[in-house]
Amino acid sequence: MKILTILATPSGDRGNTAILLQEVLKGAKSLKAECETVVLKGNSIKPCTGCNQCHKRGYCKLKDDFEAIKEKLLEADGIIIATPNYIFHVSGQLKVFLDRCASLLHCIALEGKYGMSVITSGGGDEFPIVQYINNFFVRAGVTPVDAIWAEMGTTKDGHLDEKNKELAFLAGNNLVEAIKNKKRIAMVEKIKESHLKRMVDLMNYYKDEWPYEYNYFREHNRL
Ligand SMILES: Cc1cc2nc3c(=O)[nH]c(=O)nc-3n(C[C@H](O)[C@H](O)[C@H](O)COP(=O)(O)O)c2cc1C
Repeated sequence: MKILTILATPSGDRGNTAILLQEVLKGAKSLKAECETVVLKGNSIKPCTGCNQCHKRGYCKLKDDFEAIKEKLLEADGIIIATPNYIFHVSGQLKVFLDRCASLLHCIALEGKYGMSVITSGGGDEFPIVQYINNFFVRAGVTPVDAIWAEMGTTKDGHLDEKNKELAFLAGNNLVEAIKNKKRIAMVEKIKESHLKRMVDLMNYYKDEWPYEYNYFREHNRL
């Protein structure tokens, strides 16, 4: 079982989010998951230009690491998205990356996978960020099963209290168990159902302009 983490922060693997993530990964590894982390810092992923080539051809014209990371997402059983709270939202690196995933959402290309989010902040407001990431997950076909967050702004040494360590470990366990048991969540299934209907309408509308996505829907017997 493979779990891929996207850790998106300028602090990389030395920051607060990485400290919280480490506890989650301990939980996942304790149940024998194979874990890989992709760190997004700096500007290794370029912003979407809105050219729609991904919808037309199934790949992005921008030359950077995106397509390689996309392949890793497609191969993973579980996906963890980890970000600090940057002005009530995800980090810039993560937003840029998620925008580049537009075609994965249209195609619901991550169907059958499981996800969770990991968020740190200076002083709170993490839950709307969890909701944003969960919405991304569900629209891409991923079932979100848990989330963990921690306020770490007043600790200069990246201190994480025992309670948060324990909950992070539990969240890592929960992700692996959900993958093993192919967990289904009624609320998630309902949202997936309405998203699929919306995407079928979109594909029928754009069938001439977006041949890649239209054919993807045909091949998956959705039309
Ligand atoms: C540009 C910027 C914006 C931030 N915005 C918020 C915020 O709106 N609310 C908050 O509680 N913390 C905010 N923080 C604090 C970070 O979320 C917090 O320090 C986080 O743990 C950093 O994680 P990292 O070390 O993995 O980058 C902000 C920090 C930066 C640098």
